Amino acid sequence: MLPQKGRTREDILATVAAYREDDLDWKSGRTFGYVYDPGHAASEIGKEVYASFLTENGLDPTSFPSLRRLENEVVAMARAQVRGGAGVVGTFTSGGTESIMLAVKAARGWARKHRPKLDVPEMVLPVTAHAAFYKAADYLGVRAVTVPVDGVSFCADPEAIRAAITERTVLLVGSAPSYAHGVVDPIGAIAALAAERGILCHTDACVGGWLLPWFRRLGVAMPDYDFAVPGVTSISMDLHKYAFCPKGASLLLCHDAALRKHHVFANATWMGYSVVNTAVQSSKSGGPIAAAWAVMNALGDDGYAEIARQMHACTRGIVDGVARISGLSVLGEPQMSLVAIASCRASVFHMSDEMKARQWYVQPQLRRGPSPENLHLTIGPTNARWVEAFLADLAASADAATALPESAMAAQIAQTFALMDPASVPDETVAGMMGMAGAQGGALPSRMAEVNQILNALPPALVERALIEFMGQLFRS
Ligand SMILES: Cc1ncc(COP(=O)(O)O)c(C=O)c1O
Repeated sequence: MLPQKGRTREDILATVAAYREDDLDWKSGRTFGYVYDPGHAASEIGKEVYASFLTENGLDPTSFPSLRRLENEVVAMARAQVRGGAGVVGTFTSGGTESIMLAVKAARGWARKHRPKLDVPEMVLPVTAHAAFYKAADYLGVRAVTVPVDGVSFCADPEAIRAAITERTVLLVGSAPSYAHGVVDPIGAIAALAAERGILCHTDACVGGWLLPWFRRLGVAMPDYDFAVPGVTSISMDLHKYAFCPKGASLLLCHDAALRKHHVFANATWMGYSVVNTAVQSSKSGGPIAAAWAVMNALGDDGYAEIARQMHACTRGIVDGVARISGLSVLGEPQMSLVAIASCRASVFHMSDEMKARQWYVQPQLRRGPSPENLHLTIGPTNARWVEAFLADLAASADAATALPESAMAAQIAQTFALMDPASVPDETVAGMMGMAGAQGGALPSRMAEVNQILNALPPALVERALIEFMGQLFRS
């Protein structure tokens, strides 16, 4: 409720601090997800500059020339990381999802110009492509055509992509690296297919676009994925991930200015000010762009080189250590710092609860196609000091989880819904199913294994229904 009289500063700060009590303790370095902490004073400089630009409005770069200058300089730094020539142009966005939406919008606009007879353009997605592409498909009326990936490496399969290309295809996609398994797709082969057909090719380098060049310098072998590859027409690169900038910072880089025109929106028909937006947002805080510029300059080449070195050592330590734990294995061969750990001995969902009880955060991933259920790690430099302790607790968690039962309810629910059309299942049934697992009224059980085992047993369409149901319960205001 809005208070009648404004609350004091002390009261407000104490209240929000109390609200944070149950948040992930990312500063501990024991969190493997959601937060990218460089463990460097650059973060403080970023926060300071963010706050100082909070009120400036990116809506009109002629009123705030500082923001235009900052964006141009950030894009120039990023373009060099992905070996783009002077013709490459970029746009600052609020995150990977927005950059991907713009890449798909650019492809749709390109299709309207170059394939005017196409009613529904298609893009071909390896099943490892990020969910943001499906969101873009949904929002923009582009059809997502999914293709399997290699069942061992989890890399995109160019032959499967080739087979899925039709006369309606306008965009091919690969990741550098993929989120789920942290592997870099064979972008060269994918882009060659695109060039052969005269269509577009997007590299989703939201995770690796900024930092992978320093991994390459460390001698890590990986396929080329950037503008050095003929046929790559756009690249998404998140700065709020492994460039360690505050959230709300990503880029879409286009091979040439003509392609970018297709994601720019202008409107002069309404009665107010003339609108021209390069991205989805119109009014937008100058904070993220100014802070990104500040963090990148504060870290510099040497800072990122040191961070990459720490992350690489930490990732190798974890990958090698997992191989020594009985029954556990790493899926694929991650080239950067995202690692998926599967278990043939214990439920990974019990393991995730056990790790939580030991003050770690690891992210459970459901099984999909050839990828079994697993625990996902997003590794950063502040995790590096914990490698041995993490591995010891991972082994202990696997032991403890081995003794815990699989959910009988999950098996029963899977059987009940196996033959049903997900669309025919009423909302109440979906809510009841979540409730039976203890997820009710926006609350979650302290141990999540049963909820995760149930989700793991359901077809994706029903999981999506359950997630939407749960979100509705979380946000009731
Ligand atoms: C490969 C990849 N692409 C896109 C995204 C979406 O980024 P965001 O969460 O910033 O919208 C992510 C997020 O993890 C990702 O890993």
